[in-house]
Amino acid sequence: MKILGIETSCDETSAAVIEDGHSMLSNVVSSSIDLHIPYGGVVPEVAARSHLEVIIPVIDQALVQAKCEWQDIDAIAVTYGAGLGGSLLIGVLSARSLALAFDKPLYGVNHVESHVYANFLTATSLPGYTMPVEQPEFPMLAVIVSGGHSQLVLFKNHFSYVLLGRTLDDTIGEAFDKVAKILGLPYPGGPSIGKMAKNGDAYAYTFPIAKMNKYDFSFSGLKTAVLRAAQAEIGENYDFPSTKLAERLSEPQKANIAASFQRIAVETIVEKVIKAFNEYSPKSVVLAGGVASNEELRNKLSNRLPISINYPDTKLCTDNGAMVGALGYFKASSHQPASDPYSLDIASNLSM
Ligand code: KG4
Ligand code: ZN
Repeated sequence: MKILGIETSCDETSAAVIEDGHSMLSNVVSSSIDLHIPYGGVVPEVAARSHLEVIIPVIDQALVQAKCEWQDIDAIAVTYGAGLGGSLLIGVLSARSLALAFDKPLYGVNHVESHVYANFLTATSLPGYTMPVEQPEFPMLAVIVSGGHSQLVLFKNHFSYVLLGRTLDDTIGEAFDKVAKILGLPYPGGPSIGKMAKNGDAYAYTFPIAKMNKYDFSFSGLKTAVLRAAQAEIGENYDFPSTKLAERLSEPQKANIAASFQRIAVETIVEKVIKAFNEYSPKSVVLAGGVASNEELRNKLSNRLPISINYPDTKLCTDNGAMVGALGYFKASSHQPASDPYSLDIASNLSM
């Protein structure tokens, strides 16, 4: 069964063809990230306009790369939430029109859930991808760490899951992005902090780990602690503007702050994952979302858990159509209800 997956929830326009939920025949991603860099974050209007310009060529290219014609496609899956309204609309309206024009079943998928399904992609002949050897087993503990979400979700099976915990304020991705801004590092902050942290002392600062109930997280206190440490480092008090800090901090100071912040941000997640692992004894632990490519997070979890963890190729951690196609396959093959191509609506605030 071949599924065309379409993703436009944020700043990546992407389409992919996935066969039987595990084989990635194509994955085409066009990112508008360069257009947002000057603003230090995604500008919704700019993202939506960019999706509109590239969505049709991206879908065409995904079919060509997969060596498919429309008649080979069994169903279309599209992200309908969560995400930016204007961006989601472009993907959903394109998918609805194509489903009607080519008479294909349509499946609306949850963006956060689809990040988890990047872990089910185990084969591709496309160059440059390192795929996991096998699909994760259930029960599966999913550690969803992205710019939009920080959640721990226990999957008993496909479509049967419980939300164990979530962030009560900022997501871990936002914390990386905000600390990067303080240090004058480019957006997106995650990769730039990871690089800078390699030259720093992770124990130079003792930032706090938020103590939250059960499996919930909090990252806003950590972000404020970083800001206060940076102000103190240059001998200024709390009303010194965060936008002027970077020019006063030396490179070694920045590296130490980046490394110490990353250690605590990662530890915040790792502590809760270990606790959930001990309570629920899942057969697999999977990482999902943009922050899943963080090396420190991967290494710490691998070292501290008694089973090996699963994570997607770095290119499949950030937003892509392949993960949408993978989840679409499991929906279609398990006879989940298809969406109405005349009425599938977007849901900007959809949660798990
Ligand atoms: O999953 P994603 O592409 O978008 C959302 O659905 O939110 O995640 C983007 C987030 C950004 O906050 C970015 O800074 C972070 O993922 N990120 C990383 C790394 N690569 C991307 N954070 C830490 N380490 C990385 N290597
Ligand atoms: Zn995402």
